[in-house]
Amino acid sequence: MEHHEHHQMWGGRFEEELAPDAFAYSHSLPVDIRLWKQDIETSLVHVRMLGIKGIISTHEANTLISALLEIHDEIANGRWMPSAETEDIHTAIEQRLYEKVGALAGKLHTGRSRNDLVATDLRLWLREMALKLANHLYWLCETLMEIAEEHTETLLPGLTHQQHAQPVSLGHHMMAHCWAFLRDMERLYQATQRMNLCPLGSGALAGTSFPIDRELTANELGFHMPTPNSMDAVSDRDFVAEFLFVGAMMMLHLSRLAQELILWSTPEYGFVELADSYTTGSSMMPQKKNPDIAELIRGRSALAIGNLTGMLALLKALPLTYNRDLQDDKTLLFQTVDILLPSVRLMSAMLETAEWNTARMREALQGDFSTATDLADYLVRKGMPFREAHHLVGQIVRACIQQGIGLEAVDLEFLRKFSPLFDPDVLEVLSPEASMRARTSYGGTAPESVRAQIEMARAALQVLEQRLSDLHTPV
Ligand code: ARG
Repeated sequence: MEHHEHHQMWGGRFEEELAPDAFAYSHSLPVDIRLWKQDIETSLVHVRMLGIKGIISTHEANTLISALLEIHDEIANGRWMPSAETEDIHTAIEQRLYEKVGALAGKLHTGRSRNDLVATDLRLWLREMALKLANHLYWLCETLMEIAEEHTETLLPGLTHQQHAQPVSLGHHMMAHCWAFLRDMERLYQATQRMNLCPLGSGALAGTSFPIDRELTANELGFHMPTPNSMDAVSDRDFVAEFLFVGAMMMLHLSRLAQELILWSTPEYGFVELADSYTTGSSMMPQKKNPDIAELIRGRSALAIGNLTGMLALLKALPLTYNRDLQDDKTLLFQTVDILLPSVRLMSAMLETAEWNTARMREALQGDFSTATDLADYLVRKGMPFREAHHLVGQIVRACIQQGIGLEAVDLEFLRKFSPLFDPDVLEVLSPEASMRARTSYGGTAPESVRAQIEMARAALQVLEQRLSDLHTPV
């Protein structure tokens, strides 16, 4: 029987076909079809190298290259699609090559295996996705920085334990989220850098006896270098696990921001109104405006965490080298990527179109005692030990609560009953504005401190963006 009549890349030693249910259980085309472009890229580079090294003739190499390019265009233009009967994308493309050039197609696989091929394809694919994701993250950070710039003076209750703690600016709050995403972007860069090694030429596990040039293929595929150990190369999926961690962390950060947007858009807070285009109505209650997109982001972070733990479990105790278990890395990875890209994009869009109710934020500080620390600090400046000042201000707060007033309503006479250290200038430290402005320490919430960190964040973002785009060598 001719090789090309098989829907698989093997069969010589088999007398019987794979049972239909076993085939259905194991075939991966519906998932790995997404690697078609990378699979052709890898094959093109491999064939070129085989020709250059004289492992196949130049004529043979050229014929295979033209046919591979044709297949590329056919798939890109939807003129040909692998049949669902095919085991995986690698088999599908080789099979198509047989249909085009006959037996010569069999030379494509010289000195390589699907084990190094799939590892190479997946790294290429993930590198591209990482760069796309970095671009989305860039815009998310930009959006947060723009909001922060506009609101370095906008007062907001700062919370710990969900209780009013100290006044901060909305800008400071937004920058807190921004730094988390900057760390995500840095992790994304580092993970991408570590994945940027080329497994191609590792063969099934032991390398090959053909005089291949791995430097050449690695270089042409835009990789930093070839992987140094062929056994590690075909069994290593650290890069998938690592990306899934980076992605889970990113979704987790998004979920925390999403949760705040959800809370802030309740009537109890009323700090933000999300745009109609990112909220939905209720089928029953006409008055409702629900933050569904934010809720879905919050929820999907759970799936990203699940995919990470799934991947770690898939790898645990797996002996060297390639094992078929590894095939299912793609299902997990693809789902996380499909969650990440729109989540980051939608979060930027939601923030860009949100309306901040700064009056409500300011109102929320009324009578909340969030400048009590400033009152204690005042006494400390007059020489009182902080612990003592803390205790005394606690008593002042209790007295205020008993009288039903906030700290902004107290006068000097009232304060003097607690300590002779209070002078008329004490009234100035009691306003949330003064409290926020006073926190000029490095990383603090004062407008100039926030402006300084925005500048730092901008610089960090530019550096990361540059480094990430340097990793990308288009093929
Ligand atoms: N479909 C396989 C995967 O995604 C390709 C490699 C198959 N190799 C093998 N020896 N069966 O992992």
